[in-house]
Amino acid sequence: MNYCVVGLQWGDEGKGKVVDVLARDCDIVVRYNGGANAGHTVVIDQTRFALHLLPSGVLREGIICVIANAVVVDPEVLISEIDGLTSKGIDVCNRLLVSENAHMVLDYHKLEDRLREQALGRHKIGTTARGIGPCYADKAGRTYAIRMSDLRDLDNLREKLAVVVEFKNKLFTAVYGAEPIGLDGLFEKCKYYASRLANLLTDTTEFLHRSIKEGKSVLFEGAQGSLLDLDHGTFPFVTSSNCSLLGMPAGSGVPGKLVDVSVGVCKAYMTRVGAGPFPTELDNEVGQYIRQKGQEYGTTTGRPRRCGWFDAVAVRYAVTINAIDQIAMMHLDTLTGQDQIEVCKAYRIGPDLIEFFPSNIDRLRLVQPIYHSLPGWREDISSACRFEQLPTNAQRYIEYIEGLLGRPIRMIGVGPSRDQLILR
Ligand code: GDP
Ligand code: IMO
Ligand code: MG
Repeated sequence: MNYCVVGLQWGDEGKGKVVDVLARDCDIVVRYNGGANAGHTVVIDQTRFALHLLPSGVLREGIICVIANAVVVDPEVLISEIDGLTSKGIDVCNRLLVSENAHMVLDYHKLEDRLREQALGRHKIGTTARGIGPCYADKAGRTYAIRMSDLRDLDNLREKLAVVVEFKNKLFTAVYGAEPIGLDGLFEKCKYYASRLANLLTDTTEFLHRSIKEGKSVLFEGAQGSLLDLDHGTFPFVTSSNCSLLGMPAGSGVPGKLVDVSVGVCKAYMTRVGAGPFPTELDNEVGQYIRQKGQEYGTTTGRPRRCGWFDAVAVRYAVTINAIDQIAMMHLDTLTGQDQIEVCKAYRIGPDLIEFFPSNIDRLRLVQPIYHSLPGWREDISSACRFEQLPTNAQRYIEYIEGLLGRPIRMIGVGPSRDQLILR
């Protein structure tokens, strides 16, 4: 079986935990999009692992980890993640493959990301400042792009970097009034990256097709969430990759029809970090309750996440564009203690009923959510292992959302830990 796990909201749905659980039955776990803007958490016993570039399957012994073509790799983050896990006794290097065609995020990308956001002021996107947008822009522009395979030929890399640095310095000084960056320091860093990473580089597309032919089970791990997809999300308040399942074939080189089961991950409510429209946002004490109880602070940047009621219009759209087979719903425990829980079942724009999510933000900004109210529960559910052990109102909540989404909710999260998961 080959699986693909994707986020159905604006990221941080709990993909790391779901991937870690599914990886138990897989041979290979693949990251295919995004970069170190991702922060995927896995909690094992009392230990919390936050992964940014390494696939979340890495915590399962013997799993091969692949970073595929369309990931933008920040070598500094990757090396520090490898070292962090090695220091905890988890050996990574002998089972990690990095695409030679993946593009590299360097210091000037992160600087450009920060400078652009600062210059935009209140119009900013609220990026993670991890250099994601500038790196993907250089990739699409081609002339100033640096790929992982460039680490194999350092003389050639120095020549390429000289051209890039000259161009970027014009941008930094003339447009942003910032200090220029130096070529020598950047090149020294690249020499170090080459010494650490060059032997991990390979043709990951060839490896994945060979492995699938041999009958290996592959799990594709999406980063971010479908509503942040560059082409299908709430543009421009999105990331710079196709982070729905639609990005998986292009990102990994493996056609989508080789995926047997697509798993969509959502929370029992909505969250969003950064700017952009959010129809069911709770800018009140209920939103604060969810943020506190669910510990809704960014895994990568520590920023407080905006919280709101479950939006079935938005999630149903994600289910549709991803052709989701089954759903994993995390953080049901976070809703414990609410007397009434609202679910947005449709939108209204003026007199019109809207059931298909308008991803165009000019239309999305006009929508009025139509809510259905359900009774809440007060019992502690954090140690429930079976669906039947949940309070009746919690069961009804799950079943109501299943009805709205038209897909089975097969996993239910009742706490952050690896084993706080109900399998149905
Ligand atoms: P990802 O980016 O989709 O992997 O999600 P993040 O790791 O950024 O954010 C999810 C957060 O929720 C992490 O802190 C997880 O440890 C936590 N988490 C995951 N599932 C559950 C759950 O069912 N209940 C609670 N309370 N926390 C959860
Ligand atoms: P995971 O994989 C939540 C958001 C940022 C910002 C927008 C653009 O952990 O779910 P970027 O740095 O990508 O240019 O920022 O996208 N964003 C995420 N939000 N989870 C993520 O990843 C995110 N990655 C990017 O907050 O609004
Ligand atoms: Mg995250």
